Amino acid sequence: MASTHGAHILVASNRGPVSYALDETGALTAKRGGGGLVSGLSAIGPEAGALWVCSALGDGDREAVRRGVGEEGVRMLDIDADVHADAYNGIANSALWFVHHMLYQTPLEPVFDAEFRRQWAAYETYNHAFAQALAEESAEGAAVLVQDYHLTLVPRMLRELRPDLRIGHFSHTPWAPPDYFRLLPDDIAAQVLGGILGADRAAFLTQRWADAFTDCCHAVLGPGIPSGTRIGVHGLGADADFLRERSHRPDVDERMAALREQIGAAPDGGARKTIVRVDRTELSKNIVRGLLAYRQLLEDRPEWRERVVHVALAYPSRQDLKIYRDYMDEVQRVADDINSRYGTPGWTPVLLHLKDDFARSLAAYRLADVALVNPIRDGMNLVAKEVPVVSDDGCVLVLSREAGAYEELGEDAITVNPYDVCGTARALHEALTMPLDERAERTKRLAAAATALPPAQWFLDQLHALDA
Ligand code: G6P
Repeated sequence: MASTHGAHILVASNRGPVSYALDETGALTAKRGGGGLVSGLSAIGPEAGALWVCSALGDGDREAVRRGVGEEGVRMLDIDADVHADAYNGIANSALWFVHHMLYQTPLEPVFDAEFRRQWAAYETYNHAFAQALAEESAEGAAVLVQDYHLTLVPRMLRELRPDLRIGHFSHTPWAPPDYFRLLPDDIAAQVLGGILGADRAAFLTQRWADAFTDCCHAVLGPGIPSGTRIGVHGLGADADFLRERSHRPDVDERMAALREQIGAAPDGGARKTIVRVDRTELSKNIVRGLLAYRQLLEDRPEWRERVVHVALAYPSRQDLKIYRDYMDEVQRVADDINSRYGTPGWTPVLLHLKDDFARSLAAYRLADVALVNPIRDGMNLVAKEVPVVSDDGCVLVLSREAGAYEELGEDAITVNPYDVCGTARALHEALTMPLDERAERTKRLAAAATALPPAQWFLDQLHALDA
């Protein structure tokens, strides 16, 4: 089945670099996404003959595939919408995501019943569609970089179809420790690990997640990595050049002025301090406990009332899942509760914005005194890496020790146990009172560590490692 033409470098991921929207007149408009992979791929240049294989996600994407509308270098797969929903919402986001982020409330969940088995069959079909497309599109000996928990079965399936290929798998999430990973039914756990072990190389964002993967292999499959798979670590960093340029455009200045207006001034006329957070409203981001910690701060340290504002940008994510919609409601409810409990005519303690706006995120980064990044568990967390780069006057990072970024930034951040609300409140106080010269020094070191491996280099390193 090996072809003499075809792509030499392929990337496969559920969400691709472009999406299409269908308007009332039936016209399609394309929207290009950003992110590490997009800038990584652009680094190798168009002459490299790279192809990105991704899934159609909505009606616009499906219509684009049917009309043959597409971008050079992108192949979108029109996988049956029900199959995709079962694979993406049912298995990837409700089972695998929950396992790796340890999100279950275990007295009642998970329940791996017949419905789960039905969804698992869809996950296999969806993975198989990717493996098939990659097998068709790859030139002899091509390098294929498969991304994330949506596509764990692809490496093994593809290896069987095309033994000549060099295959890498990269996990952008944490990896669960064995006791938690083994919540999955034994055969499914073995299939997930065996799927990834079909790759020549399995890579992770931190050593901790790589070690957890190896531990799971030992626990589930027996001692030793039972294949020739090499394990790697590539800690994706922030894109300093892009961020510095983008955060000084006029739209960001406008958002800064608007935020300053909403933040207002302290009663003595001085500037209010800001505690900023920016997240997708994702169960693992721990936004609710962040708000509770802020409430505790106002309770324990009344001197901060009127003198600080918590700017929380919490953008919608995975709204097909009820638990995500409920979580957003809870974020809103706790923010409202704080505002009605402590707010005054001239002071809104929490400024919560729910509408995705990248320019406003950058504006919040620039004016933050404190950045709160307190996830329950997170593969890396790029916000923790972006804020120190963009911040105008230096910013204290309050960082969960469960974020992948902790491995590189822990020393110069104030670190917290994400479940400890009182401890997080104390950390916020410490951050707000840090002397400005110390804050500036730490910010400099954080920015250097955060940009050590820019996206383009992160991508090239993986390609070179596959060659080795
Ligand atoms: C985060 C994770 C990635 C994942 C992505 C999917 O960015 O770090 O591991 O691929 O979410 O998000 P989506 O919006 O496509 O469900």
